[in-house]
Amino acid sequence: MASGLEQNTPTGADVFVLLGDEHRRLDGIFLSHQESVLMGDWEGAAATLAEYKALLAHHMKVEDEEVLPVYNVRVGEVPGGSAEVFRLEHRRIEKLLGEVERRLQETSQKPTRRGTISFLDFEKMFKDYIEHHDLRERNILYPKCQESFSAAERESVRRSWEQPSPQHRGG
Ligand SMILES: [Fe+2]
Ligand SMILES: [Fe+2]
Repeated sequence: MASGLEQNTPTGADVFVLLGDEHRRLDGIFLSHQESVLMGDWEGAAATLAEYKALLAHHMKVEDEEVLPVYNVRVGEVPGGSAEVFRLEHRRIEKLLGEVERRLQETSQKPTRRGTISFLDFEKMFKDYIEHHDLRERNILYPKCQESFSAAERESVRRSWEQPSPQHRGG
């Protein structure tokens, strides 16, 4: 069916702007999680971390499956910004986040002030890594995609981004 072929979604924001905004939403959830840690609300801390993980997993899946393959073909070799580099960083982020979860469990089982400090130190390292990754996506990946993706390709990214929806999408 050819209907809807060149149809422009009048809903506004470019999908790469939306992905950039999602980085900020993720940062906000992570901060709420850390607030719970500070208050000794370990249940809340685990819940917000799970929420963060689900949203981040979806975000990276869209990037891995819809964005990076096209980026790789269009843009090719970018020093320090190839599709492969971004993909490897995603795998590293997953590993680090798994370690955050493990340490949260451990720390919350027998909470001490020092244990909490060293947990937060580890999380600081995770946050630095994420910040560095997000910055390069905002400075390299998203602008280059904005330049080079066709309308249909953007639409396809947007559809998969909107799809399986951890519950706070659009919030
Ligand atoms: Fe990413
Ligand atoms: Fe991203």
